Parts: sequence; structure tokens; C-alpha cells
Amino acid sequence: MFLRHTHYAILNEKASGQVLMEELDKVKEGIEQLKTQINRHNYRYYVLDNPEISDAEYDELMRELKQLEEQYPQLLTLDSPTQRVGAAPAAAFGVVEHTLPLLSLGNAFSRDDLLAWYTRTSRLLAGEKFSLTCEHKIDGLAVALTYINGQLTTGATRGDGFRGENITQNLRTIRSIPLSVAAEAPPHFEVRGEVFLPKAGFNKLNQERETEGLPLFANPRNAAAGSVRQLDPRITAKRQLDIYIYALGYAEGKTTPTSHWETMEYLKSLGFKINPNNRLVSDIDQVEEYYRTWTERRANLPYEADGIVAKVDSLTLQDKLGNVGHEPRWAIAYKFPATQGTTRLKEIRVSVGRTGTLNPYAVLEPVSVGGVTIKQAALHNEDDIRRKDIREGDWVYLQRAGEVIPEIIGPIVSRRTGQEKEFSLRDKLPKNDKGQPVCPECGAKVIKPEGEVMYYCSNAACPAQLQQNLEHFASRGAMDIRGIGESMSALLLEKGLVKNFADLYYLGKGDILKLDRMAEKSADNLLSAIGKSKKRPLARVIYALGIRHIGEQMAQLLADHFSSIDELMDATEEDLIGIPGIGYEIAESIIAFFRQEDNKRIILRLKDAGVVPKTEPAEPEELLLAGQEFVITGRLAAFSREEAEEKVKALGGTAKDNVTRNTNYLVVGTDPGGSKLTRAQALGTKQINEEEFLMLLGVTG
Ligand code: IVH
Repeated sequence: MFLRHTHYAILNEKASGQVLMEELDKVKEGIEQLKTQINRHNYRYYVLDNPEISDAEYDELMRELKQLEEQYPQLLTLDSPTQRVGAAPAAAFGVVEHTLPLLSLGNAFSRDDLLAWYTRTSRLLAGEKFSLTCEHKIDGLAVALTYINGQLTTGATRGDGFRGENITQNLRTIRSIPLSVAAEAPPHFEVRGEVFLPKAGFNKLNQERETEGLPLFANPRNAAAGSVRQLDPRITAKRQLDIYIYALGYAEGKTTPTSHWETMEYLKSLGFKINPNNRLVSDIDQVEEYYRTWTERRANLPYEADGIVAKVDSLTLQDKLGNVGHEPRWAIAYKFPATQGTTRLKEIRVSVGRTGTLNPYAVLEPVSVGGVTIKQAALHNEDDIRRKDIREGDWVYLQRAGEVIPEIIGPIVSRRTGQEKEFSLRDKLPKNDKGQPVCPECGAKVIKPEGEVMYYCSNAACPAQLQQNLEHFASRGAMDIRGIGESMSALLLEKGLVKNFADLYYLGKGDILKLDRMAEKSADNLLSAIGKSKKRPLARVIYALGIRHIGEQMAQLLADHFSSIDELMDATEEDLIGIPGIGYEIAESIIAFFRQEDNKRIILRLKDAGVVPKTEPAEPEELLLAGQEFVITGRLAAFSREEAEEKVKALGGTAKDNVTRNTNYLVVGTDPGGSKLTRAQALGTKQINEEEFLMLLGVTG
């Protein structure tokens, strides 16, 4: 912030030379401060594998520094962190001099950045047409692998780009790295790639560390770096590391392909692991499409990716473009919006959940993560908070994934001041006159069932529980009643119009009109939404009841076994446990729910209102291509385009003119259209030829 101000002050006061000198001194001081800060974070990140700030915050610091150095080139010095790729290698490993330096990548943080890069590249290539490859930017660490006469001889980290650490012994433990390659490979070559720890391995590793009382890794990249830089390769070997190769450094003694895409195919043929999600595209729109697709889908990837990398495909053009410093002009990393951040945990509060659970949650110093401001985070339960050693007042790592409630990964112990307070749920709760902890919402006694980690409010009519019950009942996956969310539930309960969810079906228009801001039309809409919900299938109704431990899938399982609520109510523990997938805990929870008189009454009231769900009849015999979308390009030999489309439709599929994310197959005939092909490539749509198409139609020749 200070720097930005100084910077503007200079622009405003350029008139006076004296002022300019003084201000320049200030900028210099600011630059020095930034460098010290970045160097420290660099050291923590690259050498200790234990960062204090998130990548996004680090990127922001670097960006500020880069910007100032660009603005004031006279202040740029060689020791600036912008002038080197990584940090110095740790002393304990041998040093490897890289034959060719390992480059870094320039970053694009917005669409504008990406387009600016593309425009510049096109200009430098004087309008020459060029293809691009799109790849995931995997969050791991870069390594260079040298093969001589078919044998892996050296594996090294990037280090500072010129000299890295010799970690051959550790890399040899990674199963996806071939120890030897086929005889037709060049006699001397080097490949480069990203070593990473898949999410599953990362979670497992952190679980183990938790049981052993060791500090957790903040993300898979630190875990991968920490694993590869173990002095004892046996430890590395246990860590389930993996690699994707993304470049051929150099090759001697054999001609190799002249484009990046073909090089990858070539390396694949030599036995190297190449990311199957790589794509070859023909223009920048398709790069954007690739980015959009993976921004949405990346949560489902088995590894962590923090962006995409776009590369000019032709190696001749890559050479023509060259590098600026350590960054090639022919490639750019387009970063995904951040999902991790750090902030201060101000306080831990307790709320009452749907089933009466007392849930601790974190109140945070608001922080923006990937464009969303986060003020609160989930904290599961007291045991979990203790295990992770999260204290009030701590600086914490935060993780946001899609729409789910942000989570706290762990504390940044090195930022503690000694003022932090350990958490005790009991201490947080209000007390009755006997000094016993009570529910913060209704003042009823609090219980902690034997063997459970959660505390509960003992009052089934606790208003906080009722409201959440109502909200849950009306929610999307349950009865899906539009118009009944948080505020409407609270209002209905507050005005005494409903006492439980069954009462919803007995509301009259007059009742609803009594509520503030409810006009005739909205009242009608609400009533119609409630009316429609009477038709929901059994699985949804079971889920909507809010029985402890019964999520959507479990509800479906129950609906598959019982044909009505009555049957489920009559089920004995034995009946329930007889169903594969249902254990004692769930069976007991169901029995306990239906044993309660209140719940029996509510279900009776639901039935009287006409909520009599049944298991949905099984689908009529599935058509061969039901739900499958096809696009056809080019000519087919067996029939005309129209005939082909008719066949698809007759088998329950759909035929469209354009490839979209919903397309399941692109059928490629002779003389196919280029745009459909490239789009399918960008989206990763499956392409099939006529023969395969005929097989799908069940027409075998
Ligand atoms: S290309 C000049 N491709 O990102 C080419 N790098 O910030 C440099 N990375 O050091 C590398 N996935 O560790 C390339 N598909 C990919 C990548 C990738 C991850 C890493 C790599 C590199 C860093 C640059």
C-alpha cells in the first residue's frame, strides 16, 4: 500500500526535481523491503518447504516488485528475486549443472493478460499462423532427467535454473519414471517434467502425519517437494509421487520432432508419462475454452493444478521467439483463481445444527480468496480443532473449493505471538445457575453421547434446530420448495405459523399474506411450490426428514429397499442391518428417529396432507444411446447425415450441429470440418470414426 502511494505521489509531483529525488529514495526503500520480504518467503518455500503465506499472496508481492522495477529500471539490481528462478539448493545434495538452463514461466492472471501475451506473440511472428498446446500447470516441482545410452543417469531439481540438486536416488523411486528406455531413443538426452503428489497420496500423508503429531503440509506441492528432497530415498519411496513430462530439454545423436505436440507423442512412445489432458489447438479462443473447462473441472482432477500453460507448438517458432531473462516468450501460465489464502482467526463461535449438534465455526479477518470474500470457516468439532492445534488469534491457512463452506487447514505456527488462546467448547458455552454448559440458543442442557465427538442440545424443540430442520426439508436435494430458505424459515417459525415441516402443508393463503412484504402473487407462488413438493419420490422424502447420518445416497439406498415410509417405520434393526451398506450406527439412528412420538405425529400429518411418496418405478428399458449427444462432421459412407441423425434419435440419443461441453461423441467422417475437430480437441470430446459409430449403433458389418 505504501508503495502504491509513493508511486502516485511521484507522478503527481514530477514538476519538482528535489521532490523527485526524495520520492525516488522512498521507492528504493520500499523495493528493498519487498525484496527482503520475498527472499524470506522464498527461503521458507523453496528451502524449508514450509511457507507462511499463500501462493496468491506471494505472486502479488512479486507482481508489485516487478511492476516497480519496470517503472524504475534504474533501481533494478541483480540480486532481486525477480532475477532468478528459484532459491539456492540445500547443501546436503550434490550439485548438478544444467546443460541448458531450466526456464520459468510468465504468468497471466486475467483474460487481458492472456490476450496481451497472444497479441505480442503474433506480432513478433509477423502474422505467421501458429498452433498452440494447452496443458495443466501441475503444482509440483520441476525436474530434469538425463538418459545416457538408454539409462537414467541423473535426476535433478531446477534449483536456481542453472544448478540444481542431484536427487537421482529419490527420483528413481518414482515408478512412473522409466529407469531405462528403448534402444531407439537418442543416445544422450534430457527430459523435463513435474513431479507431484496426487491428492489421494497427499491426504493419506497428512493423515499419517496427524497421527504421528507432525506438522501438516499446507498443499500437495510442499508435500511433493518435501518428499523428493528427503535425504533418505526410502522415505521418498513411500510417498506415492508421480510425474508428467512436459518438455525435451535436448537430444543428441538422433533427429527429434519439430513441434512440441509431436515431441510429447514421441516421448510417450519412449515410455514417458505425458498428461492425457494436453490438447493441441489452433487459436486463442480455444485456449480460453480449455481454461474455462478446467477452471470448472479441476476439483475432480486427481492432482492439484494451479493454472494452464499455453505453448507455441512449433519448435522453430519457439526458437524464433526466444526468452526474456528466464521466461520464454513462447509460453505463458494462465493461473486459475486462487483457492487458498491465509488470514487471522479472530474468534471461534458455536452454532446449533439441524440435529442439535453444537458446531464450532471460525470468525475470520475478512480475506479475499480467488475473488470471494471469506469471513467464516467450518471447524467440524472440538477434537479436530485440538488435533490441528488451531487457536483463537492464530494466523491460519484457508482452503476454498467451489461452493462449499471454506475450511481451515491449519495454523501458521511461526506467526504466533503467544497471545493465542486454546479452544474449549465447554468454556465457550453459556452456563446455567449450577455452572453447567447450556445450548447458546435455547438454554437447554447440553449432552455428549458416549464415544461421539459432538456435543448436542438436548431440546428437540430448540428453535435453532427447528429452523435448520425446516430449511433442510425445503432444500434443493430434499423437497425442493422454492421460496423457503433461511429467512422464510425463520419468519414462519417466529410468527408461529409452523412448528415443524409438516405444518407447511397446512398453510393457507391468509396465513402467508400476514407475513411482511408478502404480496398476493408471492403467496400464490409459495403455495404452489409447497403443493408441487407433495409429489417428490420416496428417497427425497426420507432425506428431507433429516434423520441423523442419512444423506442423499443413504436415503436412496433405503428407498430402494422399502416401498413406503410406513415400511421403513416398521423395519427392525435386523431388517436394516441386513441391507448391504447399512451398519449399526445408521440402523440405530433410523430406529431412534421413528421411535419418537413427535416424529410419528409429524409423519402422520405429512401423509394426511397428501405426501405419500412411493419408490419411483424403474426406468423403462434403457435405450442404447439414451442421454448420449452426438455431432457428426464430414461424410459417412453408410448413410447420409440425416439418416445417421435419425438412427441416433431412434436409439434415444440426440444429434447436434455444434460441439459443446455436452457432446459425448464427435463422429468423424471423410473431409471433416476443421472447427468441429479443433473444438472437440480443446474440450477433450471423444472422437470416433465411422466404424466405431456403427458399432455404437449396434450395426456391425
Ligand atoms: S513448461 C519454459 N509445462 O511451472 C517452460 N511447466 O512456473 C517451463 N509446470 O518450472 C516449463 N506444469 O515446474 C511447463 N505443463 C507444464 C507445467 C510446468 C507445471 C511448472 C514447472 C515450471 C513452472 C514455471
